[in-house]
Amino acid sequence: MFVLGIETSCDDTGIAIYQTKRGLLSHALYSQTKMHSEYGGVVPELASRDHIRRVLPLVKQTLAAAKLDLKDLNAIAYTQGPGLAGSLLVGSSFAVALSFALKIPALGVHHLEGHLLSPLLSATAPAFPFVALLVSGGHTQLLKVNGVGQYKLLGETVDDAVGEAFDKTAKLLGLGYPGGPALSKLADEFSKSGKASHFKLPRPMLHSGDFNFSFSGLKTAVLSLSNKHEITRQTQAEIAFAFQEAVVDILTKKSLAALIQTGFTQLVVAGGVSANRQLRESLSQCAKKMGATVFYPNLEFCMDNGAMIALAGAMRLQKSISRNQPLVNNFTVRPRWDMETQETPPNK
Ligand code: KG4
Ligand code: ZN
Repeated sequence: MFVLGIETSCDDTGIAIYQTKRGLLSHALYSQTKMHSEYGGVVPELASRDHIRRVLPLVKQTLAAAKLDLKDLNAIAYTQGPGLAGSLLVGSSFAVALSFALKIPALGVHHLEGHLLSPLLSATAPAFPFVALLVSGGHTQLLKVNGVGQYKLLGETVDDAVGEAFDKTAKLLGLGYPGGPALSKLADEFSKSGKASHFKLPRPMLHSGDFNFSFSGLKTAVLSLSNKHEITRQTQAEIAFAFQEAVVDILTKKSLAALIQTGFTQLVVAGGVSANRQLRESLSQCAKKMGATVFYPNLEFCMDNGAMIALAGAMRLQKSISRNQPLVNNFTVRPRWDMETQETPPNK
């Protein structure tokens, strides 16, 4: 079965083709980062218009790379939510229209489920069950994962998502947009110097006794540090290091606690922040000490991409087929969507 994956939830147009027998055949990505950086953040209206421009050429490119024709496709998986309504509408209307024309099913995939399953695209993939740490620009969650569609939320952030905290802190330090990777690079450079940072930041909710997180206070702590000290390249690097150290410490300790509580021995880390080198090093080292293994997506699949949506769609499709469940092509987007209950919360 050939599944076309379409991701347009935010500012990346990601397209991929996944074959259930052979795995990922081809994928392409267009990032709008440069366009939005001028405004210091994603402009939703510009994002959706740009998806319209990119989606068809990228589908053609992906089909050509896989040496396939449209009529070879067996299903289309698209991100149905959560995300920006206008951006989601581009991918979903394209996917549903194409599925009607080709008379094949279109499956709406949960964006976080895509991230969650993305390490299964790697050569060394985890097997169910596992604990998942989802760390992206919009979400920070710890989940107990028993199988496809069997997700139990253990805890999540009560305020900022960890990627959002990286980006806001980077902005405070004058590192531009999106600042997460830049902040992390600066922190890594400082760490290599072997010097100790003059700054130490708090670890909010580290001892809360649950699996929830809070990151907005860290950003405020950085703000008060940057108001007190002259921001030179040196202080910038030291604060970046202290911030990353605090975040990594919290994420590591809570993830290990989740492994202990569930009794699972596999941890999956996914979402944009799973590209963070320091986080990977800390989690892998600490998990090894307790006999657990950590799995990550390949670096190219940490951020939003079409491959994870094609994979999640293919896995959902196989599950429905094995259970004789009918596939319905419904045309809706869900800007807000709970993965565990599959419910759409009412708009606030
Ligand atoms: O998963 P993703 O592409 O988008 C969402 O679904 O939100 O994640 C993007 C987030 C951004 O906040 C970005 O700054 C962060 O991931 N990010 C990083 C790194 N690379 C990307 N944060 C810390 N260290 C990195 N190396
Ligand atoms: Zn994402």
